[in-house]
Amino acid sequence: MKKAVIMLSVVAVVAGFTVAFAIHEAPLTYESILRHMPRPSAGDLRYHMTIHKSYREWAEWPGKGKMYKGREPHGAFLTTYVNETALDSIKKAKGMAEHSIIVKENYDPGKKLTAVTVMYKVKAYNPEGGDWFWVKYDPDFNVLGEGKIKACLDCHGTVKDNDYIFTGKVTEK
Ligand code: HEC
Repeated sequence: MKKAVIMLSVVAVVAGFTVAFAIHEAPLTYESILRHMPRPSAGDLRYHMTIHKSYREWAEWPGKGKMYKGREPHGAFLTTYVNETALDSIKKAKGMAEHSIIVKENYDPGKKLTAVTVMYKVKAYNPEGGDWFWVKYDPDFNVLGEGKIKACLDCHGTVKDNDYIFTGKVTEK
């Protein structure tokens, strides 16, 4: 009897490890990352674009290199990164798809990083505002503002026909 209990325990432990290992080793495909997209919250988004995988490994906005010249209010120099969904949407030019993330580094005239501003498209988050979730971080990724930020919406709203995007044409309109 005792032997059977020991045997069963051993089997259970081995099975447990096997399952845990299988889950751990499951390949992290782009689809599986999409299923774990962050909620519209600056903390979740920060984890996704820094610790999970640095946005600096994403593509730059097509045709824009690092430290291109920017305008007010963002900064004298800008570097803009886009995730795969955003890159695909920019190429298709039919509006930005759900899960698109655009991360813009804002630099002062001395090329010092002053802020990181982000647009994240979340389905049904804010239909009146193109479903964009807005965030502003300081250079240490403290949250300076998040959500349906009025200032961002007011200014980017002037290019509503281009899905609130200034940097390049992303719609057919
Ligand atoms: C007064 C207008 C204005 C305000 C306010 C503003 N932006 Fe922008 N934003 C721009 C312009 C213009 C660009 C194009 C880049 C450039 O030349 O500076 C831009 C570009 C961007 C981009 C790159 C994608 C795109 O639309 O081209 C992001 C991301 C962004 N802004 C985020 C924000 C966030 C977040 C806020 C609020 C915290 C904000 N912006 C407030 C004018 C504004």
